[in-house]
Amino acid sequence: MARKKKLKFQRSKIHEWGLVALEPIEAGDLVIEYVGELIRRKVSDFREKKYEAMGIGSSYLFRIDDDYVVDATKHGGLARFINHCCEPNCLTKIISPNCLTKIISVEGQKKIVIYSKRAIAPGEELTYDYKFPIEENKIPCFCGADRCRGSLN
Ligand SMILES: C[S@@+](CC[C@H](N)C(=O)[O-])C[C@H]1O[C@@H](n2cnc3c(N)ncnc32)[C@H](O)[C@@H]1O
Ligand SMILES: [Zn+2]
Repeated sequence: MARKKKLKFQRSKIHEWGLVALEPIEAGDLVIEYVGELIRRKVSDFREKKYEAMGIGSSYLFRIDDDYVVDATKHGGLARFINHCCEPNCLTKIISPNCLTKIISVEGQKKIVIYSKRAIAPGEELTYDYKFPIEENKIPCFCGADRCRGSLN
């Protein structure tokens, strides 16, 4: 099993809180799993509206596929602090139970696992591309990358 990477959340230049590496990470390493409550899409749509009404500005809902979403709002891990970047240093993989045995223990459900795309130095903020669907109502992106697309969606 891969050893857990040393990470910490701190204030970010991109948006409020971000997750930072505390040790060097090699390209292709397993960085962290995005943990939270596994819920159905319908429940997630309902909660999204509820969270908006409650003024929870940051979305901690991670869509796995058409049917399932991981909600890290109330019962989430550190990965929920990872911000979006248009030129990210990490990527996300949805891992099916049958490919999981070597990586993490499993109770027969899909997992969201975050890997490094390139070597990451201590102190660097971790980012991945949220790949939000294109919408008319744009969320401005502050990732600061040379090729920033200007919005998350
Ligand atoms: C999962 S949270 C990330 C952690 C967040 N920074 C926090 O403090 O809780 C996702 C939210 O962070 C904000 N965010 C993430 N990346 C961003 C970016 N590149 N530009 C602007 N806002 C971003 C958006 O509001 C997004 O819905
Ligand atoms: Zn950007």
